[in-house]
Amino acid sequence: MLTLNLWQPKPAAPPAMAVARAEPQRPLLRIVVLNTKGGCGKTTLSTNLAGYYAARGFRTALLDADPQGSGLRWLSKRGEGHAAIHGMSGCDKSGRVTRSFQLRIPQDTERLVVDTPAALDSLRLQDLTRGAHAILIPVLPSDIDIHAASRCIAELLLAARIDDRTERVAVVANRVKKHTRVYATLRRFLDSLDIPFVASLRDTQNYIHAVEQGLSIHELESHNVKQDRYEWAALIEWLESRTPDGARHITQVSASDISVR
Ligand SMILES: Nc1ncnc2c1ncn2[C@@H]1O[C@H](COP(=O)(O)OP(=O)(O)OP(=O)(O)O)[C@@H](O)[C@H]1O
Ligand SMILES: [Mg+2]
Repeated sequence: MLTLNLWQPKPAAPPAMAVARAEPQRPLLRIVVLNTKGGCGKTTLSTNLAGYYAARGFRTALLDADPQGSGLRWLSKRGEGHAAIHGMSGCDKSGRVTRSFQLRIPQDTERLVVDTPAALDSLRLQDLTRGAHAILIPVLPSDIDIHAASRCIAELLLAARIDDRTERVAVVANRVKKHTRVYATLRRFLDSLDIPFVASLRDTQNYIHAVEQGLSIHELESHNVKQDRYEWAALIEWLESRTPDGARHITQVSASDISVR
């Protein structure tokens, strides 16, 4: 049986018993990570985002909309001692996808991260991106992936009828090896899009070490992840600027700020 380290929404308590939180609840930010191309880093980005926000004290939920269940498997490895994340499956027991409106997101969720499967059809694409404040598209530096990403972005803009693309959609280059020709090609492709390009994440074993422990790179103590935290700063900054109340709940993100332990 799958045992998840979840935080549960508190049941409604009479006012006398209510425990006041130090901070008022922050508005829900829905982040959807998608790319119809497999293996580009959707789950890696989703789990690292969920881990980051949870470790920073946000009520965080991870919705795994992929029948493969990699996001929930990551969560099942997360030890008790780490900031809790509420895990939800977007699929029923037979692996069929659940429509997003049928899912109950805990009321006090502040950051919802949605990990999506590859090969989404346009109905599902529409369903999963409805109401999203931020849609992140991880892209690998390879000819095949660049081609697939341009198709995915076109499909997304059409299917989800996104007309405020610079507001909601951003691209993240993943598994980057700088100073390679294909990375230069990816940069040219990303520069040609009318979509913000918010981060370049390097290819590193740190993501693999983190996933093995149910952690994000932000929760690893080693000084080896300093560069990776630095690469995340601009991404977090962009996401925080998408919050529905327009207020950044993490201001002035810097590499040292990303360090959570
Ligand atoms: N920046 C990175 N550095 C090193 N390895 C990475 C990085 N990002 C992802 N990986 C590895 O690449 C593989 C695919 O990543 P991931 O599972 O996140 O992709 P995905 O898009 O979710 O795949 P799928 O479409 O099958 O769901 C994994 O083994 C992951 O550990
Ligand atoms: Mg995945």
